[in-house]
Amino acid sequence: MENKSPNLLMKFLALPLVFLLCFCHVSVASTEKKKTYIVHMAKSQMPASFDDHTHWYDSSLKSVSDSAQMLYTYTNVLHGFSTRMTQEEALSMENRPGVVSVLEEVKYELHTTRTPEFLGLDRTADMFPESDSMSDVVIGVLDTGVWPEVRSFEDTGLGPVPSSWRGECESGTNFNSSFCNRKLIGARYFSKGYEAILGPVDESKESKSPRDDDGHGTHTSTTAGGSSVADASLFGYATGTARGMATRARLAVYKVCWIGGCFSTDILAAIDKAIDDNVNVLSMSLGGGGSDYFRDSVAIGAFAAMEKGILVSCSAGNAGPSSFSLSNVAPWITTVGAGTLDREFPAYVSLGNGMNYSGVSLYKGVSLPTKMLPFVYAGNASNSTTGNLCMTDTLIPEKVSGKIVLCDRGVNARVQKGVVVKAAGGAGMILANTAANGEELVADAHLLPATAVGQTSGDKIKSYLFSDANPTATILFEGTKVGIEPSPVVAAFSSRGPNSITPAVLKPDVIAPGVNILAGWSGAVGPTGLASDNRHVEFNIISGTSMSCPHVSGLAALLKGAHPEWSPAAIRSALMTTAYAVYKNGKPIQDTATGKPSTPFDHGAGHVDPVSAHNPGLIYDLDVNDYVGFLCALNYTAIQISTLTRKNFTCDPTVKYSLTNFNYPSFSVPLQSAVLGRGGSGSGSGSGSIGSTVVKYTRTVTNVGASSTYTVSVNLQSESVKVLVEPDTLSFSELNEKKSYTVTFTASSMPSNSFSYGRLEWTDGKHVVGSPIAISWT
Ligand SMILES: *[C@@H]1O[C@H](CO)[C@@H](O)[C@H](O)[C@H]1NC(C)=O
Ligand SMILES: *[C@@H]1O[C@H](CO)[C@@H](O)[C@H](O)[C@H]1NC(C)=O
Ligand SMILES: *[C@@H]1O[C@H](CO)[C@@H](O)[C@H](O)[C@H]1NC(C)=O
Ligand SMILES: *[C@@H]1O[C@H](CO)[C@@H](O)[C@H](O)[C@H]1NC(C)=O
Ligand SMILES: *[C@@H]1O[C@H](CO)[C@@H](O)[C@H](O)[C@H]1NC(C)=O
Ligand SMILES: *[C@@H]1O[C@H](CO)[C@@H](O)[C@H](O)[C@H]1NC(C)=O
Repeated sequence: MENKSPNLLMKFLALPLVFLLCFCHVSVASTEKKKTYIVHMAKSQMPASFDDHTHWYDSSLKSVSDSAQMLYTYTNVLHGFSTRMTQEEALSMENRPGVVSVLEEVKYELHTTRTPEFLGLDRTADMFPESDSMSDVVIGVLDTGVWPEVRSFEDTGLGPVPSSWRGECESGTNFNSSFCNRKLIGARYFSKGYEAILGPVDESKESKSPRDDDGHGTHTSTTAGGSSVADASLFGYATGTARGMATRARLAVYKVCWIGGCFSTDILAAIDKAIDDNVNVLSMSLGGGGSDYFRDSVAIGAFAAMEKGILVSCSAGNAGPSSFSLSNVAPWITTVGAGTLDREFPAYVSLGNGMNYSGVSLYKGVSLPTKMLPFVYAGNASNSTTGNLCMTDTLIPEKVSGKIVLCDRGVNARVQKGVVVKAAGGAGMILANTAANGEELVADAHLLPATAVGQTSGDKIKSYLFSDANPTATILFEGTKVGIEPSPVVAAFSSRGPNSITPAVLKPDVIAPGVNILAGWSGAVGPTGLASDNRHVEFNIISGTSMSCPHVSGLAALLKGAHPEWSPAAIRSALMTTAYAVYKNGKPIQDTATGKPSTPFDHGAGHVDPVSAHNPGLIYDLDVNDYVGFLCALNYTAIQISTLTRKNFTCDPTVKYSLTNFNYPSFSVPLQSAVLGRGGSGSGSGSGSIGSTVVKYTRTVTNVGASSTYTVSVNLQSESVKVLVEPDTLSFSELNEKKSYTVTFTASSMPSNSFSYGRLEWTDGKHVVGSPIAISWT
């Protein structure tokens, strides 16, 4: 033993040295590596020695870092600030008294002439009177800014800016505060968080001001609240009157998205200001937040907005058709998926074998000759294994010159593929979907004659290409066609449920037009958004849930103008319970991804119907206490809850919080796929048979119509579930009278990944108040 001790001693001596070296190394590395953090403080714990909370924030920050500067201080969305710190400093910050949480910066991503008619808004002048209350509504849009010269921002006929308005029109590069008017009443930009990470805004590429150099923000804001512009179109496509959903509402833009993305510190700062400014609706076509509400800046900001009576409408995401692909699922957010319009831009492929296939295109320019041209598959004309995708510099000019080239969709941008074909001397392009996109067609303003076809047609065209010795083809452009049926259909790209954060809340809430939407555009970029596209357009046609979200934001503004007393939850309820999930012929709304009927996980309550939403009969209301109860039912800790509520709230241990009583206008019933033979596990008593689960949901409806008696009906095509509603009649004699009912689901055990869908409706003969039902066994 003893003769070993020198060795041990050596080891002991050596170890601290190694550790010391390691520590040096780590600490050098970590001082260099600063990240942006958002620090939530408990304002109630501010020591009396501070007269001002910013002094307290500052002193807390100085105590962990001498050099750190505040990027923003926040007052509405949270009490606290954002700053650059090392990870070590962030950890010691988290342990300081009065600090609720320290969250790392997250980068978010950005995800119409005919739409008003399609939604029936042209028939409703009397329902949505162009009243003063309507023009008092302000829609705030968080996006890439605004191109104020687009005629949709003209303010003809609008009265003075509402007296409640507290916002500003900020000047900056290429933007003068004089650009604001009675339509565009506010414009701000938020770049501190962006610049802290990526360095100063490169003014040769984007303007450090509310100016929109991208087009997305101009498109979304004009969709929500643009004035009417006669004879708008993109190269003659979709010609007609372009108008936003709420033509009399006011617009305030908050630029938070830059070439490098949209950063959470900037998003929070913008929502903070929008609340101070007194917006009524917030429209956010972006997503990418965390896996929990208390980590997601959009959810945190939206909670504060909801408390102030602001409806927050967000895009559901473009990650469909995969399940569990939704963004922005917090129940205080209105989550919007995308459907098609009854409008298409057909461009047919005609082949040498006499066959025709329908595609879509927004190409404008010199047409192809009507005689057939030689036709080639990009995969056979390339020096790369990914040549079929028409990636940059992969096509061999000798093999494509003067020919129509078929490229597969995917990986690079659709319009970019056209640029690659054109650069190699190709005469035209056929863009074929693969299984990833199925039959979903998105029309693009290509820079060469081109059309997009679905997978089925694409496969047939390829089999001709591969079997014919001298294949030929041409493309015939047919302009704009309306009256397309069926419509709407759910867009394949529209993100789908189930809700992965809270399965008991059905999301998305609704779908709205999001495919081939015409709206205002930036003068800084062409319609394709490509650097090589030098064309300038005032209106552009693009697709995404980014486009469907502002439709709902505008409709919410219409409802807010007509019913100023309605809460955000009441407005959403009206949009949901009057949405339709079947066509006029009674057939269910289809899903582009499958060619089959869509489900509530695809379309939520259905497609919005603003005419009915104006007069929904009954609403499902929710207030701040209901949302806090929801957080208690999720078993959130006091810290997690106060990150959202900014208040020190302790869930009452004597209250049994339950998601089944959360007064949402839809029913999502997640069940365990029980092992056969096991007894029921639900809250019900004797009514369940062996092996079945009984769950009871409670809802409360508020009468917003005349005195009336409603009766219930439930349509659920499933042998596995029985539904009992008690009572089955609700009578109302007064406005704002509330009545409750329970829904008992008795479900047999089913294999995992089984689903049943249905609909519950209350009707008094005049109103139909519908709620979707989605039951899932996992
Ligand atoms: C902004 O516009 C006003 C009025 O047109 C003009 O007087 C002013 O010089 C402009 N400011 C800038 C910075 O261009
Ligand atoms: C394809 O379209 C062309 C031009 O519209 C037409 O002449 C031709 O008859 C069509 N062929 C088939 C098989 O429909
Ligand atoms: C073209 O590509 C397809 C698919 O990769 C292949 O089946 C076919 O043999 C190729 N044709 C020629 C002429 O190389
Ligand atoms: C493929 O061909 C293109 C066009 O001729 C050329 O620019 C590119 O360098 C080639 N790539 C390879 C890997 O040979
Ligand atoms: C919350 O905790 C209760 C009691 O442990 C449990 O029954 C319930 O399922 C939990 N809720 C959630 C959403 O995890
Ligand atoms: C919350 O309130 C409880 C009791 O009222 C108190 O003990 C606790 O320190 C408070 N926490 C915060 C973060 O303010």
